[in-house]
Amino acid sequence: MNTIQILVLSLVGLIIIILLILAVPRKVNERVPSIEGLDRKVAEAFEKMNKTPPFKILRKRVISELKKLNPSGVILDLGCGTGNLIIKIVKAFSETEIIGIDISSEVLDIAKENVEKQVSNQDVTFKVGTAEDLPFPNESIDLIVSSLSLHHWLDPNKVLKEIYRVLSQNGKCIIFDFRRNSRRFFYGLLKFATKIVVPKALKEIKEPLGSLMAAYTANEVIKMVEQSPFKTVEITPYLAWIFLKLIK
Ligand SMILES: C[S@@+](CC[C@H](N)C(=O)[O-])C[C@H]1O[C@@H](n2cnc3c(N)ncnc32)[C@H](O)[C@@H]1O
Repeated sequence: MNTIQILVLSLVGLIIIILLILAVPRKVNERVPSIEGLDRKVAEAFEKMNKTPPFKILRKRVISELKKLNPSGVILDLGCGTGNLIIKIVKAFSETEIIGIDISSEVLDIAKENVEKQVSNQDVTFKVGTAEDLPFPNESIDLIVSSLSLHHWLDPNKVLKEIYRVLSQNGKCIIFDFRRNSRRFFYGLLKFATKIVVPKALKEIKEPLGSLMAAYTANEVIKMVEQSPFKTVEITPYLAWIFLKLIK
C-alpha cells in the first residue's frame, strides 16, 4: 500500500468512527423539569456563555430561518433572555417593531442594557410576563420567535394556544430548543464543555445539562403540536435540537 492509499483508508476509518459515535442512540431519560426564570447572577453567567461560538451560530441560524419568512410588523421574542437574539433581529429587520418578553425582570434588565449599548434608535420594548399568559391582545403579533425557552415552560400546550391567540391571521412562529433524545455524543460534549467553559453559577444549577434533561423529545414535541390549534406545522429534529415552524 502506498502513502496515499494509507491516508485515504485512515480518513475513511475516521469518518466511519465519527458517524458511529454520532449515531449511537442513548436511553431516553424521564424528563426532569428545570427552574423557570433566571436570577441576575445566573443571567450574567448565561450571558458569558451566550458570547461563545455555539450560541452565535445558533442565532445566525435562527435569523436565516426568520429571513425565509420575510417578517414585517410586530415581532415577539418569547423568553428573550438577555436580548442577544433581539439585537440580531433589529439589525436584520430594521422596519419591524420588536417586543421581548421574559418571566424574569432581572434578565430583562441585562437585555435592556445590551440593546441600548448595541443598537440605538430602534423601537424595542420589553415586558415581564409568562409564556402561558401572554400580555397581548388577540391577533396583535405578526411573528413569534423563541429560542431555548420551551424546555422551561410549565404548560407548553397552554403556551401554544396563547401563541395562536396573539398571532395575526397567517402569523408565524419559530421555536427552537434542545431535544432530550439527542445523541449520546452531544451529552458527552456538553459534559465536557461543562467542565471546561461553563461558569460556576451555571454549574451550581446543573446547567447546561439540566436544560437538556428538561427538554422534550421529538415525539413529545410532535404530540404537543398535534394537540395545538396550529394546522400548518413543520417540525425538524436535528442531532441535538429541534426546530418548529407554526403558521396560523
Ligand atoms: C435559556 S434562556 C434563553 C434566552 C434566550 N432566548 C436565548 O436564546 O439566549 C431561557 C429564558 O426563558 C425564560 N423563561 C423561562 N420560562 C418562561 C416562561 N414561562 N415565560 C417566559 N419566559 C420564560 C427564562 O427567564 C430565560 O431568560
